[in-house]
Parts: sequence; structure tokens; C-alpha cells
Amino acid sequence: MRKMKETGWISLAARMWLLCWVVAEFDAAAALFLPVDNYLLACGSSQNVSYHGQVFVPDSQRSSVSLKTSGDDVISTSNGNAPSPVYQSLRIFSKPAFYEFDIQQPGRHWLRLYFYPLSNSEHDLTSAQFTVVTDGMVLINNFTFSNSNRSYLFKEYSLNVTSDSLAVAFIPSNNSVSFVNGIEVVSVPDELIYDQALAIPNAPFSGISVLGLETMYRLNIGGPLLTPQNDSLGRIWETDGRYLHVNSSAVKVFVDPSTVKYPEGVTVETAPRLVYSTADTMGDPNVTDLSFNITWVFSVDPSFLYLLRLHFCDIVSKALNTLLFNVYINSDIAIDGLDLSSLKGDLSVPYYKDFVSNSSNGSSTLTVSVGPNSLNEDNNNAILNGLEIMKMSNQVGSLDGLHSAKDLLPQTPSSSSRIWVILGGVSGAVVAATLAAACYCCLVVRRSKTSPHSHPWLPLPLYGNSHTISKVSTTSQRSGTASCISLASTNLGRVFTFQEIILATNKFDESLLLGVGGFGKVYKGTLEDGTKVAVKRGNPRSEQGLTEFQTEIEMLSKLRHRHLVSLIGYCDERSEMILVYEYMANGPLRSHLYGANLPPLSWKQRLEICIGAAKGLHYLHTGAAQSIIHRDVKTTNILLDDSFIAKVADFGLSKTGPALDQTHVSTAVKGSFGYLDPEYFRRQQLTEKSDVYSFGVVLMEVLCARPALNPVLPREQVNIAEWAMSWQKKGMLEQIMDPALVGKINPVSLRKYGETAEKCLAEQGVDRPSMGDVLWNLEYALQLEETSTLGDPDENSTNNIPGIQLAQLEPFDNSVTMVEGVNSGTFDDAEDAATSAVFSQLVNPRGRNVIVPYLVRVYVIIGVI
Ligand SMILES: *[C@@H]1O[C@H](CO)[C@@H](O)[C@H](O)[C@H]1NC(C)=O
Ligand SMILES: *[C@@H]1O[C@H](CO)[C@@H](O)[C@H](O)[C@H]1NC(C)=O
Ligand SMILES: *[C@@H]1O[C@H](CO)[C@@H](O)[C@H](O)[C@H]1NC(C)=O
Ligand SMILES: *[C@@H]1O[C@H](CO)[C@@H](O)[C@H](O)[C@H]1NC(C)=O
Ligand SMILES: *[C@@H]1O[C@H](CO)[C@@H](O)[C@H](O)[C@H]1NC(C)=O
Ligand SMILES: *[C@@H]1O[C@H](CO)[C@@H](O)[C@H](O)[C@H]1NC(C)=O
Ligand SMILES: *[C@@H]1O[C@H](CO)[C@@H](O)[C@H](O)[C@H]1NC(C)=O
Ligand SMILES: *[C@@H]1O[C@H](CO)[C@@H](O)[C@H](O)[C@H]1NC(C)=O
Ligand SMILES: *[C@@H]1O[C@H](CO)[C@@H](O)[C@H](O)[C@H]1NC(C)=O
Ligand SMILES: *[C@@H]1O[C@H](CO)[C@@H](O)[C@H](O)[C@H]1NC(C)=O
Ligand SMILES: *[C@@H]1O[C@H](CO)[C@@H](O)[C@H](O)[C@H]1NC(C)=O
Repeated sequence: MRKMKETGWISLAARMWLLCWVVAEFDAAAALFLPVDNYLLACGSSQNVSYHGQVFVPDSQRSSVSLKTSGDDVISTSNGNAPSPVYQSLRIFSKPAFYEFDIQQPGRHWLRLYFYPLSNSEHDLTSAQFTVVTDGMVLINNFTFSNSNRSYLFKEYSLNVTSDSLAVAFIPSNNSVSFVNGIEVVSVPDELIYDQALAIPNAPFSGISVLGLETMYRLNIGGPLLTPQNDSLGRIWETDGRYLHVNSSAVKVFVDPSTVKYPEGVTVETAPRLVYSTADTMGDPNVTDLSFNITWVFSVDPSFLYLLRLHFCDIVSKALNTLLFNVYINSDIAIDGLDLSSLKGDLSVPYYKDFVSNSSNGSSTLTVSVGPNSLNEDNNNAILNGLEIMKMSNQVGSLDGLHSAKDLLPQTPSSSSRIWVILGGVSGAVVAATLAAACYCCLVVRRSKTSPHSHPWLPLPLYGNSHTISKVSTTSQRSGTASCISLASTNLGRVFTFQEIILATNKFDESLLLGVGGFGKVYKGTLEDGTKVAVKRGNPRSEQGLTEFQTEIEMLSKLRHRHLVSLIGYCDERSEMILVYEYMANGPLRSHLYGANLPPLSWKQRLEICIGAAKGLHYLHTGAAQSIIHRDVKTTNILLDDSFIAKVADFGLSKTGPALDQTHVSTAVKGSFGYLDPEYFRRQQLTEKSDVYSFGVVLMEVLCARPALNPVLPREQVNIAEWAMSWQKKGMLEQIMDPALVGKINPVSLRKYGETAEKCLAEQGVDRPSMGDVLWNLEYALQLEETSTLGDPDENSTNNIPGIQLAQLEPFDNSVTMVEGVNSGTFDDAEDAATSAVFSQLVNPRGRNVIVPYLVRVYVIIGVI
């Protein structure tokens, strides 16, 4: 007998029972990990709920958690038919709502969600359709119980939280409601998930630490069901029987859990003893057929990658080096010839390995197999003790579907209006507003001591009589609590009264609505003197609100430039957050490129728009005492006025750049997918070059007239940066450009443009040009378009006079920009006057001496930018 055959489930279970208390003690001793953040919420409950030995506290009573709703949430409870106590109560939302958890220790956290559609007289929760997102991660997209045959839904995610709070938003879709029964947010030991794994077949895979993971399957192979009581990290380990491809291929084995010898680096947090002490081995190893194996089959979504963790522990061998077997994922070999005893020099030592794989050949199944290795003919056996399969978030930060969290948040602008100004844009994730929270603290609101049956949530005076309700964290220790800056104390442009705003917008007349952004709604308005303005009214329910409101006012009031949308003033009366901007009649650049059926822009117009935007960004980077990084450069944030002059808008995410002695700013990644600098994304180090990258994406978008990310296209085309770069490298950009431009661009101009975009999209920030260089090159492309004839021998696109630019533009630049901030209006006008004067002399130099006008122009630019 080489191993213990199954002695019957009954006796196994009986022995487990006997072992149970010993094991529990042992594991408790080894379980040194105490989660720093540990929230267990029973939503809508009025009393503590005990479930699997843990206490779930009513969501209204837990400190350091706040719930932001529009005030229409209702609770529902039932004692009867719920599958377990935590499902006995729930909270229903008919508008988007979110819970915000204070996070004391950044890093991975479990986010566990419990849903069960209790019967309710008002709402049919079974057909309710809802979406759940966090800051930047889609967890559930349009789920409804009526389309699934589940009676309840339990979801477990592992999210790396990098800020000091985690917001979980519940968004009803299809005019229905959303609801939730229970939420857990619990710290996970940092060592649990590594950044790297082996991709199948055989390639290193890294970058896992920033991804979201969703537990799809977690099996205690060959062993019993383990509940949160049996696992120091509160995990559930299922039995594996129902996933076995052929039942008879596997035989359960087990040993006394105390014989499991954890080596260094593997602990009960990796997997409990009860996982390593049970396993499946081959049902009838006495065969010579090498394709004989034990296979587990899982259904998965083929559009995602999965992280697989296989747990092994040789509990069957009697001697070292007697068990040698292969591990397969799908039909690929994952480990060829695994000898567990040689890895640690001992038996009964836990070992695990991580793999990344997708489904089998695009099907909706993923298989894991273990089988004999041909080198070990006299012992055809194989073993597997535990298996975890976690879905990895995709490129847009989703674990369900191809939409990013931003797309799904209820801030997607309606593009119905033709002249559409989206000053709020789709900017910014729902970032927990630290500042807002800090200001709540300033208002010192104490939690009501009334009974839980009265309203446990207090309305906050900050938003007057709006519907926002919230609860103040009593234990929170946020930094910056004392930093409640009064807006009025700083000099920030004209202060409007609310009455003036009401008049200007005709009481926020919906017919004047220009767009809806994350921050709130944008209306067209007319001031008393007839000036047209865009009025952005902050939605007090927007978490993005206060911080970005402040950032935007502070940034914009410091900046005046012809190519930046200017802030005329603001209104913070009656807790309103209203910004008044100059009116941009032609709306966002994007709608002139695609999607809105507007007439296509000519190549020259496009170049001029890009040049304008480049000037705006160049000014941001160099024009103020401290450089400013926009962080959200994209075609919806470049607005066009009535004469198609481009201006950069939306400074809600802007950051001041590195101080002189630093090279970058470290920050949590924000911005828009498709435009994000890969280097910034990887290293979280923000430099001006991140804006240059995003601008490169804009250039490609302008040329190709398609979105930066288009998930419906074939995989290689989804991301415009990759797709256009592949054509640019072949020198065949014209193959993918906007059909409306075909035959209408001077190829030399296109070549220059393509090279410029290519440089902006360089993988490394240091290889990207500065915004000043980009501006130079675009101006050159415009010159080439205007002046050069086809095939002009003088024209050589690599000839961009770098010497002059670097030696002369840059130094002059700095000295001039110091003057800039004071009164830029005149300089802008001067620039125009000067450039047009130069141009009037240089009209049509017929390409002979392109360089001459260019030199002249350089000095003009130096003089006025
Ligand atoms: C509920 O549980 C919390 C935490 O375990 C405890 O502090 C609180 O006293 C409990 N409340 C009641 C009513 O039992
Ligand atoms: C769930 O329902 C679908 C049809 O809606 C059916 O094809 C499937 O087999 C069901 N799954 C289970 C596990 O019952
Ligand atoms: C979700 O469902 C709603 C209504 O059924 C639909 O309009 C919307 O497009 C869906 N969203 C996604 C991202 O599938
Ligand atoms: C949307 O809701 C209506 C009723 O509210 C329902 O008839 C319809 O089937 C739902 N659509 C989807 C896609 O769930
Ligand atoms: C979480 O992400 C940050 C980068 O955003 C990384 O430095 C850190 O190691 C990650 N933590 C874990 C536990 O993966
Ligand atoms: C899991 O823990 C519970 C409670 O401590 C115990 O009753 C059960 O037997 C344990 N399960 C196993 C397999 O040990
Ligand atoms: C395989 O075994 C499991 C229990 O281990 C059982 O539930 C399942 O029905 C069996 N399947 C077949 C096809 O016998
Ligand atoms: C394995 O098979 C051989 C012949 O097929 C047989 O003689 C031997 O007894 C078998 N061994 C076991 C352990 O069943
Ligand atoms: C595992 O066995 C099945 C038959 O049970 C076979 O179809 C499959 O190819 C085998 N897998 C490998 C990786 O050998
Ligand atoms: C995903 O599947 C495709 C084809 O189905 C394959 O080419 C690719 O290598 C797979 N990726 C990984 C990481 O397994
Ligand atoms: C353009 O200049 C580069 C280097 O300056 C040179 O190698 C190339 O041959 C030139 N091309 C033309 C068409 O003159």
C-alpha cells in the first residue's frame, strides 16, 4: 500500500471531529495575523448578527464607515427564509449610493459582499438590476437575480487599497433599485499575494499587485468544507467533488493535520492545515497510460485572465523522492516533473505555486490536471491538496465586463446637445474626498444617541437641506483634519452670489443644460452684462466634489492663458459649489472627431487645435512658479470656442509638479484609461511627461478619429496607442487615419505629425519630448502642410533644427514665463498680433526656405509664450 485509500467519508468526518479542537487551538496559536482594518457590516440590521463565529455590526452603528445616499434608502428585514443570518436584513437604494470605509493600513483587503433578495412589498428585488464599483474597479456590472439561478450571491474580492479610504458604490440600473445585505472589508497580510506568477505556457507575469482579484473557486481538495471559522483569514474552502471531470479518477486521502510542517514563508494564512492535510490522489495509479490524470473543470469567463494558486503537500509518500508528477493547466504543462520532497527535503511540507492563465482555447472552461510523469514508472501517482482560482481585473479595471468604473458611474455625460460643453468631463474616479471628510470633522457633528429606530444618520449642514446624509467617523484620524481652508480667505476671482447664478441660468433651466459630469451639471448662462458663461454646479452628493472644487479654483485662479479655459468666478454661498467659466461654444474636441455627427475638421484645423492645446499644456508645465501637471489630458478636456480655438479644461485632478530637487511626484494613479502613461501607472511617479504621453494619445485620436480605447474592436486594435504605434513604426499611419482626411494631407506633414506622436508615446518618460518640443514639431507640421509641396527635396522630416530649439527656446522660455502669470491677456494678444504679423510677411514662401520663416517664428514664440 503506497498510500491511505479512502476509508469512507463517515469515518474521515468522525476523525476530523476528534481532531477539530486540537487543530483549532494549534491554528489559533499560529494565526498571528490580526487585521488592522476589520469591518463586518450587517446592512440595514438593527442588531448585531453572528455568522460563522464573527459578529456583523449594523451598518448604522459602525464607526469609521459612512454611507452617502440621496436619502431614499430603505431597510428591509426578515427572520424567516434567509440562507444564513447575515442575509436577514438589507438596505435598498433607488439612487447611486456608497459606503466609505476608513482604511488605516493600505494594501490588500478582502471585500466581501452578501446579496439576497428578501421579499419586499415595495420593490421586486429579484428583478432589480445593479452595478457595484469601487474607486476605479468594477466589481459587478448589471447583475440581476432574475437572470441567474442563484438564490443568493456571495462575492469575495481582494483589492489593493492605496488611499486612506475605500468607497464601494451601489448603482441601480434600468430604473430599478440596488441593495446589499452584508459587507466585509478586512485587511489581508501583504505576503499573501505576490506581484509575480508564471503565465501559462511558460512566461513570467508581473504586475499582479495593482490588480483587483475576485475569488472564483477555492477548493479544499479531498477534504471537507471549511468555513470562516476554520480559516484565520475568514475564507471559505469548498469541497472539490462537483468539479471533478471523472469522479473515479480521484481518491481522497488525509492525515492528521498536526503532521503538516509549515516551512518558512508558508503559514496558516497561506492555507490552513486542514487544506494541506487532505488531498486527492490518482484513483487507479496502476496504469501505464500517460494521459491518465485527475482533472478538475471550472467554468470561467474567457475574456479574463485568472490567477491560479495550487497547494501541494506530500502526505502520501513513505520516502523521499518517490512521488514525481506533472501539473497541467488546460492542455499545457505547468510543472513538468514536480518532486515535492526534493523542494524542502522533507515530506508533509506545504508548497504552493501561482500561475496565470486564461480559459482553454477561448472556451468558457478552464481545467487543472495532475498526472503521472513518465520518468517515474513504478509510482504513477499525483496529488493536489488545494486550489484557488481568482479572476484578475482587466485593462480597464473591471472584473465584470469591458466598462471602466468611470463609464459606469452615473456621471457619463449625455451627449444629446450639439453644443456641448463638458467642463466636468468624465474626469476623475469617485475618489474619496479627504477634504470633504476633513470639513465634516470641522463641523463637529456628533452621532445621534437616539434609538436605532429613529434616523441613525445625521444630515450635514455643509450641504444645507440637500438629501445627503452621512455619519461622521468618530475614530478617524485623517491627516489634514485641521486644513479646512475657507475659500473666501484666498483671492480667487469674482465671487458670485447665488442670486446672480440663479438669474444667469434662469433658475438652472434644464433646457440650458450643456452636460453632466462627475462633478455635477454644467449649464449655459448669461451674465447681466450679456457675457455668455458656462456654470458648473457641483453636485453635493458627488464625492469628487469638494477636493476637486478647491483644486480647480486654486489652479485656475493662478493661471491665465489663451489656451486654458478661464475661470470667471465661483459661488460657495449656501454650501453650493458653483464654478463660472468662459463659454466654449463648440464644446469638446472629441465630438468633432467622432460620435456626434459633426462635420469633420480639416487637417489644418486639427493641427491648429493640437497646437493650441499643446500651448496650453506647455504653459501649465512651465508657466507658473511651480510646474503643473494636468493628469487628465484627453479629447473631452480640450474645448473649442466659437472660432475653434482650443483650450484645455478640467483641472480637478491637476497636481503641482515636482519641486526643483525632485524628479517626480509620487501619487495614486488617477486619470483616464486609454490615456494613462504606462510608466506612471507602473511606478506611480508623476512627471510632466505623463501629460506628454496622454497628449500623444490625443494626437493619434485626432488623426484616426476613434476613441482612445474601443473595447469592441479586435484585441490588437482596442488601444489606440498600441495600434497606431504599430502602423507608425511601419511608416504606414495613413492606413488607419480618418477616412475624411485621406488624400487631403500633405504626406510630409503627416510624417512629421506621426513622428511627433510616436515620440510622445515613448515607453520611458525620459525618451519623450517636452511639451515645448511637441509644440515646436506640431508647428512645423503645420508649416509643412501650408508651405511644402509634395516631394520637396528640401524637405526632410528628420530635419527639425533641434539645435536651435534646445539651445534657444528653452532658456528664453523660463525667463519669459515669470512675467506671464501677472497679466497674460496682453501677452496672448501680443502673441497673436506678432505671429500674424510674421505670417503676413511669410505667406506662402513656397517651400523654398521653410527654415527662414521658422527661425523668425521661433523668436516670436520665445518672446511671447
Ligand atoms: C455588537 O458588536 C460590537 C462589536 O463586537 C460590540 O462592541 C457591541 O457592543 C455589540 N452590540 C450589541 C448590541 O451587542
Ligand atoms: C442556470 O440556468 C441556465 C438557464 O438560464 C441553465 O442553462 C443552467 O444550466 C442553470 N445552471 C444551474 C447550475 O442550474
Ligand atoms: C446595463 O443595463 C442597462 C439596462 O438594461 C443598459 O442600458 C446598459 O447598457 C447596461 N450596461 C452595461 C454596461 O452593460
Ligand atoms: C428593465 O426593467 C423593466 C421593468 O422595470 C423590465 O421589464 C425589463 O425587462 C428590464 N430590462 C432588463 C434588461 O433587465
Ligand atoms: C499595492 O499597490 C502598491 C502600488 O500601488 C504596491 O506598492 C504594493 O506593494 C501593493 N500591495 C500589495 C499587498 O500588493
Ligand atoms: C470548522 O470550525 C467549526 C467551528 O469551530 C467546527 O465545528 C468544524 O468542525 C470545523 N471544521 C472542520 C473541518 O474542522
Ligand atoms: C461525483 O462525486 C460527488 C461527490 O463527491 C457527487 O456529488 C457527484 O454526483 C458525483 N458525480 C458523478 C458523475 O458520479
Ligand atoms: C498493477 O497491475 C498489474 C498488472 O496489470 C498487477 O499485476 C498488479 O497487481 C497491479 N498492482 C496493484 C497495486 O493493483
Ligand atoms: C487528462 O485525462 C483526460 C482524460 O481523462 C485527457 O482527455 C486529457 O488529455 C488528459 N490531460 C492531459 C494534460 O494529459
Ligand atoms: C490567452 O489565450 C490566448 C488564446 O486563446 C493565448 O494566445 C494567450 O497566450 C493566453 N494568455 C495567457 C496569459 O495565457
Ligand atoms: C534626411 O536626413 C537624414 C539625416 O539627416 C538622411 O539620412 C536622409 O537621407 C535625408 N532624407 C532625404 C530624403 O533627404
